[in-house]
Amino acid sequence: MHEKLEKAFNDQINKELYSEYLYMSMYAYFDRLNLQGFKNWMNVQMQEEHAHAMGMFNYLHERGGKVVLQAIEKPETDWASPVELFEHVLKHEKYVTSLINSLMDVADEVKDRAAVSFLDWYLKEQVEEEANVSKVLKTLKMVCDDKNSLYMFDKELAARVFNPPVIG
Ligand code: FEO
Repeated sequence: MHEKLEKAFNDQINKELYSEYLYMSMYAYFDRLNLQGFKNWMNVQMQEEHAHAMGMFNYLHERGGKVVLQAIEKPETDWASPVELFEHVLKHEKYVTSLINSLMDVADEVKDRAAVSFLDWYLKEQVEEEANVSKVLKTLKMVCDDKNSLYMFDKELAARVFNPPVIG
């Protein structure tokens, strides 16, 4: 694999691990609020991000590349409300989408068609991620001022389960 693409993959592994870390911090926030369903949602999200990182990790190895892990940035720890937190999640996922696009640009630039094809899965995943988060945010904005509705929504989010993704 081209050196420039290898570096870009390593950078993205770091961003995926940061995403896991950020959602872990959000998990802790919902634990403090005792919103168990939201906490479960974040737990699933964390596992998904870990799987995204490992997907690239394994792909680099498969291609004979070198995985170079980097320091993970410190995530935020406090949000003014669950709505503000989910606005942050949406903004973050849009940022990740832009990063995947840039990574694909590098794969394109070095004419690595196999990597472009591999990254296609991540692009589709980002469409899904953004849609899921938007849905939660929309509902949350509707119910956030009513304790009973928020309680019911929390129960709904408790049903989310992690299905290990088949990447690539
Ligand atoms: Fe790995 Fe949520 O993007």
